[in-house]
Amino acid sequence: MPGLTLGDVVPDLELDSTHGKIRIHDFVGDDYAVIFSHPADFTPVCTTELAAMAGYAGEFAKRGVKLLGFSCDDVESHKEWIKDIEAYKPGNRVGFPIVADPDREAIRQLNMVDPVAKDSDGAELPSRALHIVGPDKKVKLSFLFPASTGRNMVEVLRAVDALLTAAKHSVATPVNWTPGERVVIPPGVSDEEAKEKFPQGFDTADLPSHKCYLRFTKVD
Ligand code: BEZ
Repeated sequence: MPGLTLGDVVPDLELDSTHGKIRIHDFVGDDYAVIFSHPADFTPVCTTELAAMAGYAGEFAKRGVKLLGFSCDDVESHKEWIKDIEAYKPGNRVGFPIVADPDREAIRQLNMVDPVAKDSDGAELPSRALHIVGPDKKVKLSFLFPASTGRNMVEVLRAVDALLTAAKHSVATPVNWTPGERVVIPPGVSDEEAKEKFPQGFDTADLPSHKCYLRFTKVD
């Protein structure tokens, strides 16, 4: 059975977390949320990832984006682990909830199970999965990284900016885009529509095919 993927509504699970009981849909509310999992508490790569995420929490909050971490260990373990994370990067406070999922039901439903990694009892562990969910509770973007490879939280923030820009202006963002750079007019928009939609104007790349599909414009 295929797992949760782009466009799917995330299951509305009720979960224990370091901030008490959380229902995923209520947690997301009318905002975007980054829902991300870690293989286990008290592990090195996960500690660096969570410390980095805590450091960027203010940037996500400025954009109205919520953070929700997952690890299978229990809430008491998470609370102890948070002390290590905050000591590792002083000033980076883990102010967002970390969910406990000891029976692995949530990570299965959220397509966050690592196909290889197992704990010492042979139980499943989460991969480094990350879903960016919209106010409609649908998955807008996902990363799936194995336990061996820490994620780039700058890229997560960049992806959030790209999604928010695309949603706000009905545009797309080209390779390596960062905020302030030119965006792309999607193929479904005719030149006539583009002139109306983007009164600031747009540039069309002159290509050997003479097909006018690569159009750039600026948005705020
Ligand atoms: C880590 O976070 O360092 C880690 C966790 C599970 C397997 C490998 C590495």
